[in-house]
Amino acid sequence: MANVIVVGAQFGDEGKAKVTDLLAKNADVVVRYQGGSNAGHTVVVDGETYKFHLIPSGILYKGTICILGPGMVIDPKAFMAELDSLIKRGLDDSCLKVSASAHVTMPFHLTIDAAEEDSRGSKKIGTTKRGIGPTYADKCDRIGIRVEDLLDPEVLKAKLEWLVPKKNVILERLYNLPPQDPQKIFEEYVAYGKQMAKYVCDTAALIFKSVRERKNILFEGAQGTLLDLDHGSYPYVTSSSPSAGGACVGAGVGPTIIDRVIGVSKAYQTRVGEGPFPTEQFAELGEKLRQTGTAWAEVGVTTGRPRRCGWLDCVLGRYAVRINGLDCLAITKLDVLDEFDEIKVCVAYRDCKTGEVHKDLPSMAGAFARMEPIYKTFPGWCTSTKTCRSYSDLPPATQQYLNFVAQELDVPVAIVSVGPKRDQTIVIEDPIHGPKRVLSKAH
Ligand code: GDP
Ligand code: IMO
Ligand code: MG
Repeated sequence: MANVIVVGAQFGDEGKAKVTDLLAKNADVVVRYQGGSNAGHTVVVDGETYKFHLIPSGILYKGTICILGPGMVIDPKAFMAELDSLIKRGLDDSCLKVSASAHVTMPFHLTIDAAEEDSRGSKKIGTTKRGIGPTYADKCDRIGIRVEDLLDPEVLKAKLEWLVPKKNVILERLYNLPPQDPQKIFEEYVAYGKQMAKYVCDTAALIFKSVRERKNILFEGAQGTLLDLDHGSYPYVTSSSPSAGGACVGAGVGPTIIDRVIGVSKAYQTRVGEGPFPTEQFAELGEKLRQTGTAWAEVGVTTGRPRRCGWLDCVLGRYAVRINGLDCLAITKLDVLDEFDEIKVCVAYRDCKTGEVHKDLPSMAGAFARMEPIYKTFPGWCTSTKTCRSYSDLPPATQQYLNFVAQELDVPVAIVSVGPKRDQTIVIEDPIHGPKRVLSKAH
């Protein structure tokens, strides 16, 4: 038995779904614990590409219980569309469960997210416009609608009759948009409730039962550490807690049941949307990373926006190790670096104003803007790693690169991914049953 959290160690899109899919082979339960349809999770199996937004990436294994946890925000329209298309492709939904306590993204959340972004001009966050921020804001304001409300027409009607007029004041006065009709919303969402009812249950109780039965539980993070509401590059973050601590709150389990935390990081770095990105590369180099990556989809899975690209940033990597208590790393997309003559890694930041050198992320978010990366340059390996299946298959220069990253971040690299397919994977050491390094290191 092992309960494992898979968490994004960067700005999202690290290849979490590929790693989750790999580890889900031995899992009995896979839980998404936060976020909503802002996520775009790609799994490539047997020549088929699956893009998940709300549904856990473990769904490809028949019989594995897949849970949309209470910490998620669920757009029922997006959920039903995703589910329908998966069922059409032959997927089994009999083990899919949705938390009754998860919050529901309503039409006014989508409208407000888009309108707010448009009104911000140069101060925009670059959200996915999937209504995520406004849904979590209503949750915190204690006026949100939960999945359980969709199953109770009387409750839903009363809530909407109270809430929609309030939202209409915002829509009309703040954004000059037409009001929404509570009755129309009621009719549409009560119908979603009926469709979703068979999946809805107390998922936290189900997880606890699984814990007691010594089942293997995998917690699948969406987004990434630097997009975490509390610990990310605020305000350029999402509105949930993707980092490992969020798994306990978002799934409804105690921290005592967690055995391992695995951080997923690309061998370089990408970001979609606005916000600081010290190692971002523009012009030729950024374009080359994006183009090499584009063959492997360096565009947002959810919005189709091009991803900003840059070199691996060990300052942020060390931060992710600390915030998540990472036991080990899965390094993905190593093959994207195959054709570079030289490869850079940011090892520290220099404060442009004071000249001070920082190995660790300075605590003030404002400081980000003044930081200039200090790079160490490695010779490229200039040969394909796509067919490598063991550490010893990798060219010496690639091994040197990986060893350096492990040393800089002070955690072992347990998994290396050299392509999007399931089998394009190198397991260097058992990510789940190896020693708990974070605790054993003397710093
Ligand atoms: P997630 O949101 O963290 O699950 O990641 P995304 O699915 O948004 O983006 C990762 C992209 O990289 C997807 O298109 C994956 O199929 C692809 N991918 C994952 N691992 C590798 C790899 O090792 N090499 C390459 N070339 N592509 C990969
Ligand atoms: P996965 O799970 C990459 C980014 C958006 C924006 C910010 C806030 O596929 O890694 P939001 O719509 O959440 O309010 O947007 O967060 N963002 C992501 N970037 N991958 C994601 O998910 C993301 N989900 C949100 O681009 O900058
Ligand atoms: Mg993604």
